[in-house]
Amino acid sequence: MTTVRRVTECVPWVRLCDIPDAPEEGRLDAYRVGRTPVALLRHDGELRAYLNLCTHAYGTFNAECLKDGILTCPLHHARFDATDGRVLAGPAKERLGRLSLAEREGIVEVLVPRPLLEPGVIGKLVARITRNRAPGWPTVKKMG
Ligand code: FES
Repeated sequence: MTTVRRVTECVPWVRLCDIPDAPEEGRLDAYRVGRTPVALLRHDGELRAYLNLCTHAYGTFNAECLKDGILTCPLHHARFDATDGRVLAGPAKERLGRLSLAEREGIVEVLVPRPLLEPGVIGKLVARITRNRAPGWPTVKKMG
């Protein structure tokens, strides 16, 4: 019997912002890395990065969605724990996708899975959701 493993390939670390520009406690900044929406937030003193797509029907979070450590989706009001992305209230059933994050040499960097940045089923889905059809990656844009 052959075991097939799927390896999630990532782009090299991508710079999101300088550390002094990272969100303060209780704040969320939205970015787009290539076609991939990323939410960067600070909760309990720690920066966290999530794929900025609600797991229910792909709503995206903005600065107003984070209150008291809870992320509330603006579309159908699913609630997620900002600590680890787990679901606190439906209709979402799956936790948010958390991205690896590093703070070093004065900058905040994230690892984004490569399939989300390239054409393909997921890439097209993300492009449709975000209405970002611009080619090329990984351009980093701060949203809002
Ligand atoms: S898209 Fe987030 S709760 Fe429906």
